Amino acid sequence: MNLRAGSIVAAAAGVAATIAIVSGSIVTSVAAQATKNVWDGVYSTEQAARGKKLYVDSCSSCHKEGLQGADLAPALKGEDFVLRWAGFSMQDLFNTISTTMPSDDPGKLSPQVNADIIAFILQVNKFPTGHDELKPDTPLLKGIAITPKAPAP
Ligand code: HEC
Repeated sequence: MNLRAGSIVAAAAGVAATIAIVSGSIVTSVAAQATKNVWDGVYSTEQAARGKKLYVDSCSSCHKEGLQGADLAPALKGEDFVLRWAGFSMQDLFNTISTTMPSDDPGKLSPQVNADIIAFILQVNKFPTGHDELKPDTPLLKGIAITPKAPAP
C-alpha cells in the first residue's frame, strides 16, 4: 500500500492591518491677539487691482483718486493716516469702512468689496503684497495688526 503522504502547507497569512487614524482637528483661535501685521504680505496684487476699480466707483468722489482726501474726507494714505490706525487691527479698519462708508450710503458694500478696497489702500500705502488675498473673515482680520513701521529684521 502506497501511502502518499500529502503534506499540506497551510499558509496562514496574517495580515496586520494598521489603520492609521488621522484625526483632523479644527483649531479655532479664540485669542484676539494679532499674530501678523501689515508687513507680512496680507493681500495680493490682483486683489489690489480689483480694489482700485471699486475704490474709484465708491470712494474717490470724496477721498479723491489719489487718496489724498478733500474737505471733510481725510486722506487714506500717508503718515497721518497710518499713524491714526497704529495699534488697531485690520478688523477695526474693516469695521469702520463697512459700517460708516461710503458716508453718503453707509454699509452698502459687500464684505468682499470692502476687503478688496482695503487691499488697494494698503498698496497705496506701500505695504507689501503676498500670495493670499485679504479675506473678509473676522478672526483673520483681527489677527493682523496695523503697524506703521516695518519690524526690524
Ligand atoms: C460722501 C463722501 C464719502 C465717501 C463716498 C466715502 N467717504 Fe470715507 N469718509 C468721509 C468723511 C467725511 C470722513 C470723515 C468723517 C467720518 O469719519 O465719518 C470719512 C472717513 C473715512 C475713514 C476714516 C479715516 C480715518 O483715518 O479716520 C475711512 C477709512 C474711510 N472714510 C474710507 C472710505 C472708503 C473705503 C470709502 C469707499 C467705500 C469711503 N470712505 C467713501 C466721506 C466719504
